Amino acid sequence: MVVSMKVINNIKNCKTAMEKLENKGFSVGFVPTMGSFHEGHLNLIRKAVEECDRVVVSIFVNPTQFGPDEDLEKYPRNFRRDRLLAEEEGVDYVFHPDVEEMYPPGNRTWVDVSGLSSIMCGKFRPGHFRGVATVVLKLFNIINPERAYFGEKDYQQMVIVKRMVKDLNLDIKIAGCPTVREKDGLAMSSRNKYLSKRERREAVILYECIKMSEKMVLKGEKDLNKIKRKAERRLKDSRFVKKIDYFDFRDPLTLGKKKKVRSGDKNILAAAAVWVGSIRLIDNMVIKL
Ligand code: PAJ
Repeated sequence: MVVSMKVINNIKNCKTAMEKLENKGFSVGFVPTMGSFHEGHLNLIRKAVEECDRVVVSIFVNPTQFGPDEDLEKYPRNFRRDRLLAEEEGVDYVFHPDVEEMYPPGNRTWVDVSGLSSIMCGKFRPGHFRGVATVVLKLFNIINPERAYFGEKDYQQMVIVKRMVKDLNLDIKIAGCPTVREKDGLAMSSRNKYLSKRERREAVILYECIKMSEKMVLKGEKDLNKIKRKAERRLKDSRFVKKIDYFDFRDPLTLGKKKKVRSGDKNILAAAAVWVGSIRLIDNMVIKL
């Protein structure tokens, strides 16, 4: 039997469809996205299809997570391609609302996962994680999934969503999925296509600095500030790296800053955001000791 994928634009219809799935006892997996799919997104979708009876993918470029000077207008959109890819992967429903549907006039409620939202990327993108947490909670309320899938590429986002789920007593399991990379190691991102050829070649430096950090830690270096300085020097030496927002070591669970590797540490998060040309790239890696 060929069952075709359904595209839903409206919240009411989405809730009705989800209630039907729940009444039938199906487990629902949810993958929130802003579209413009690459292998990173498809990997999350594949995991959801593998683990859940029915899979919902949302495609919504969420305006509230973009700052006034950010690339909301320029953010890549390709619904027709995404829709085909989702169908090929065996997705059951694509939820594709417009901005008015998600944020009708008069909307005033925000979710702020305080503390976690103002460090790392949050320091450089004020309001970003408030927009993310708000839209993710709205999507969770509309879809009511059993499991939701997030990429470790946006590690801070995943931690914030997990915290929100815990703090607000949601019965949703957050599944983290490893970062999918290009052949040279650059983390896949919808924004990579805006790099010029030379910037693209140079962009791998971010991954290389993170890998260098991992190597140094695994060789026994305890002074994380020393590694940080070395990585920052290397980044600064690149003609294409215009700005380093941060290059940090953090506790992977609390995102607390780490200056030293201590005995008993099992995992350390290396996290960074840098500008290559006019494109902001982020990368994260959990170093397993
Ligand atoms: P978007 O950037 O489209 O990413 C959707 C999901 O794909 C996120 O969980 C992200 O971490 C994951 N992802 C992106 N690139 C990845 C890669 N290279 N490897 C593994 N996973 C990757 O993140 C968002 O959208 C939005 O903030 C959203 C959660 C949808 C809220 O608007």
